[in-house]
Amino acid sequence: MNDVLRLENVHKSFPSPAGGSLEILSGVDLAVREGEIVAIEGRSGSGKSTLLYIAALLAPYDSGEVELLGRSASEVGRDERLEMRRTSIGFVFQSSLLLSDFTALENAAMPLLIQGKGRPEAYDRAFSMLSMLGLSERKDHRPDSLSGGEKQRVAIARALAISPKVIFADEPTGSLDEKSADIVEDMLLDAARNTGAALVYVTHNSAFATRADRTLLLSEGRLSDV
Ligand SMILES: Nc1ncnc2c1ncn2[C@@H]1O[C@H](COP(=O)(O)OP(=O)(O)O)[C@@H](O)[C@H]1O
Ligand SMILES: [Mg+2]
Repeated sequence: MNDVLRLENVHKSFPSPAGGSLEILSGVDLAVREGEIVAIEGRSGSGKSTLLYIAALLAPYDSGEVELLGRSASEVGRDERLEMRRTSIGFVFQSSLLLSDFTALENAAMPLLIQGKGRPEAYDRAFSMLSMLGLSERKDHRPDSLSGGEKQRVAIARALAISPKVIFADEPTGSLDEKSADIVEDMLLDAARNTGAALVYVTHNSAFATRADRTLLLSEGRLSDV
């Protein structure tokens, strides 16, 4: 099976407020196979979001190699990066970032409409994703009439709508109460397994992290097996 994501010896520093710079990633190695579910665990401030953004081609890094879907990040220009994001990469953030003037269905369909798909096709696909996430009866609700867990499920439906090869999720249950978090965890993992998408998620919750096919710990700027 092919790797959908590969990081080799990735380094990243940020300017330190006190002057100088602070190294956050100190030689990260990671390989994720097609359809694999990988969790990255680590305490707050350990660099999990930084790592995920770099892996998803959303942020620059200082040195090392990043290869996503067979394309080397250093060779991918802006247009191709946008195209990859539009067609093959799903991203779920800690807060759902839904468009407040649009319904759950419209939010989930948005990436397809942006791709230029016609409305009937986009809405059909979005509805089946919402249904998979248990939200068929919430399709006409706007974000302000959805619970936190429901909003995250719409965000997952939106990420899945384009049938991505890889989904990245940054603490997708981090802002939810325990009961909603459990539901969102189940649905995210099931959805990835059902669609065959690889899933890389980061969390500071060990119980959630151990539900992946493989769990890694980010500590002192490096990844290790748990
Ligand atoms: N744009 C930035 N400029 C300066 N420091 C940053 C920036 N982004 C993140 N950091 C620092 O890098 C460290 C890791 O951040 P982050 O990746 O958000 O950690 P995590 O997601 O594990 O909580 C933190 O100390 C944070 O303050
Ligand atoms: Mg973070």
